[in-house]
Amino acid sequence: MFLTDSEKKILDGGHGEAAALAMAILTDLGDAVNAKRLVKISHVHTDSGFYLGDAGLEFVEHLAALNGRVTVPTSMNNTTYDIERCESYGVPGELGDKIKRIETAHLAMGVNPCWTCAPYQDGIRPKLGQNIAWSESNAIVFANSVFGARTNRTGDLLDICCALTGRAVETGLYLTQNRMARYHVILENFTQKALQDSRLYPLLGYAIGKSCGNKVVAVSGVPKGVTMDDLKGFGAAIASSGATALFHLMGVTPEAPVLENCFKNAGNNYTISMMPDDIRKAEASLTTAEDDRLDWVGLGCPHFSEQEFMTLYRLVKGRKIPASILFSVFTSRKILEWLKKKQLLKPLNDAGVKVYSDGCLLLYPNFIRTSGTMMTNSAKAANYVYSQSGFKAVYGSIEECVASAFNRKITRRRSR
Ligand code: F3S
Repeated sequence: MFLTDSEKKILDGGHGEAAALAMAILTDLGDAVNAKRLVKISHVHTDSGFYLGDAGLEFVEHLAALNGRVTVPTSMNNTTYDIERCESYGVPGELGDKIKRIETAHLAMGVNPCWTCAPYQDGIRPKLGQNIAWSESNAIVFANSVFGARTNRTGDLLDICCALTGRAVETGLYLTQNRMARYHVILENFTQKALQDSRLYPLLGYAIGKSCGNKVVAVSGVPKGVTMDDLKGFGAAIASSGATALFHLMGVTPEAPVLENCFKNAGNNYTISMMPDDIRKAEASLTTAEDDRLDWVGLGCPHFSEQEFMTLYRLVKGRKIPASILFSVFTSRKILEWLKKKQLLKPLNDAGVKVYSDGCLLLYPNFIRTSGTMMTNSAKAANYVYSQSGFKAVYGSIEECVASAFNRKITRRRSR
């Protein structure tokens, strides 16, 4: 693979041992996938802090010990558990200590400790055409699709190598020709009311991801007024049921002003109709709950936004969720601070809502209960929670989750 003089200098240790190691890993990867060269990137969102075993911890500690420093602004994806409150939330001491060590290593390397899987809600919004290297599937698909930035599904730990060198391997979605759609999904027979219903979008993403796998998708029929939270739920779902890293919504997302822009030179395209019945089937396949028993409401996958907290606050203020129902919400540190500043945290806590920062909704069940049924407004969480923790799941809007918690059983409006 071709390297510029400055890249050769990094590889030869001119910018320190950590950067040299990171560059060696990137060039090995580039050679393995027959890339021609590296691409300069100007932002990294790294998942190297997500504790999944000691190998990752040792790798980042090694880079920090070699005096590694990030060379471009780098934000952190969430880690596994709430760093400040590991102990009080029942995470065993040894595991809590390891998560703190991960944080220490990243702070030493100059990473922004925002600890969120929705960095775009913390004001981190790359521009159209900007080359970045992001991890975390929902953040990747959001950056590519909603902002028109360019990133591949950067692997955990490879992302920190990109941050230390300011480079990524030029392949996949960094190349314009690979950003063309292979699938055209046309929404048919949806009423305007259905298209304005936020419950639709996570299910639509889940259904499209299942049909289109890891291919780039163009979708016709989504209205211009679709909200950021709708796009968040749609993107998280499409990237978890498929491995989609880029979608184009016709007339909505920046690379899709007209259909022709999405299919230029792509060839071999497929067209799929998506009908309300497909959404019903998607919803049924997401439901692993066997009856109306409810143990846990889990919101914030991806992390909850300010808007979603306002909705939740309106629904629970002055009321008390029964103690038998665990009601947990996951968000970023920045939005947690906002909640405190707006004096919303205490009324939420008083109503029985537990707010966690830094962590991931899917990792908590093991520490709160060993089995049961979770209700969530996230198709991604409903998709993964059973396979990752054995919890049964059912999908519902924030309103339905709250109503169910108060009723102590799964309570849903009939699907439209
Ligand atoms: Fe975020 Fe964990 Fe869900 S990383 S998107 S809360 S699976």
